[in-house]
Amino acid sequence: MITKVSFAKSGLSDYCSKRIKQMRPHVSNVVVVHDPAVPQYLLKQVLRGVAASGRDFKLLKAARGENNKTIERAAQLSNKFLKAKVDRRSLVLAVGGGITSDVAGFAAAITLRGIRWACLPTTLLSMVDASIGGKTGVNADGAKNMIGAFHSPQFVHADFRWLKSLPAREFRSGLGELQKTALLAGGKLWRECLNAQPHQFLKPTPVLRELVQLAAKYKAKVVASDPKEQNTRQVLNLGHTFGHPIEAGSAAKISHGEAVSFGIHCAIAHSLELGLCDQTLADNNLMLSSNMGLMPATKVKLPTAAKLRHGLAHDKKSKGGDLTLILIEKAGRPLVCEGYSVAKVAKIIIDNR
Ligand SMILES: NC(=O)c1ccc[n+]([C@@H]2O[C@H](COP(=O)([O-])OP(=O)(O)OC[C@H]3O[C@@H](n4cnc5c(N)ncnc54)[C@H](O)[C@@H]3O)[C@@H](O)[C@H]2O)c1
Ligand SMILES: [Zn+2]
Repeated sequence: MITKVSFAKSGLSDYCSKRIKQMRPHVSNVVVVHDPAVPQYLLKQVLRGVAASGRDFKLLKAARGENNKTIERAAQLSNKFLKAKVDRRSLVLAVGGGITSDVAGFAAAITLRGIRWACLPTTLLSMVDASIGGKTGVNADGAKNMIGAFHSPQFVHADFRWLKSLPAREFRSGLGELQKTALLAGGKLWRECLNAQPHQFLKPTPVLRELVQLAAKYKAKVVASDPKEQNTRQVLNLGHTFGHPIEAGSAAKISHGEAVSFGIHCAIAHSLELGLCDQTLADNNLMLSSNMGLMPATKVKLPTAAKLRHGLAHDKKSKGGDLTLILIEKAGRPLVCEGYSVAKVAKIIIDNR
């Protein structure tokens, strides 16, 4: 299982060509699925690399936005793969953020019972999180990632320079997942996040690159220890049970990372209330959110109570109707706490908004 992200040192074209040629069994043809917002220069380099590998290829546009992360879009894409004459030796190359890789990876998983795919993540969120770990899927019934498959990519390759064109809002969204990973990992990543200055989070700075690489490494390690999320991988859900219904109910106004960051705030507030962690953790987390330019909890617009409960009740990780929360004792020491009712979790969200 491939979980590591390689960060660019050499040219993208050469990298793509080399990796495709190295794959066994040999790749028959390639379908490149790209987010239309990805800069042209980047796409050209990818296509040059694929052409240099000597394989036929087809270029497809991915549909943008969370509301296109649907089973219908995945099925459409899968049909387009078939029209492009994919076979069991084909490769789907997803070039874009987490939405492109979730949908294209899932379409690859369901086409011909699974064709290979690889990922070039072009958003901060995807470099830190979405491209790592082999989870692919789409939203359904008003809730996130309800239909999906574990389908590990053949390779994941990122270049920090691709983030230069990323809009500020999307940049912040990635920072929300970085905040989560830093809290989970503790140690050097947490310390260096706390030491970083606000301007170092605003664009692809060398300090941020170092933090992203540490975060990607941490996630890869957790995923490798529990690829199918039977136990230890659950901690990566910190902030998500609280955050998903906020994101899903916001009609795309609140990004994934902003919602996760709000969810982390709720998890820490509840941990504090239970006496699990101390005020210093809450204060440091608040400082980090502010340094990262993330939305303060008081500004987060909650969906109606009914939508909130609907979203929580549809949490795909619920067990017999009960929710599992990831709480935290200190940075580097998360706790898995089962048996929360939807009403209780909704109350924690409302009380801490
Ligand atoms: N599979 C997983 O393990 C996993 C983990 C975390 C998040 N996710 C999912 O990832 C999704 C969010 O991912 P995302 O934040 O990357 O969103 P995204 O794919 O929608 O990308 C964000 C925006 O940036 C644009 N964009 C992408 N690359 C660009 C570039 N280089 N320059 C300019 N614009 C660019 C896109 O068009 C889009 O508008 C959510 O659906 C979330 O559920 C999945
Ligand atoms: Zn996430």
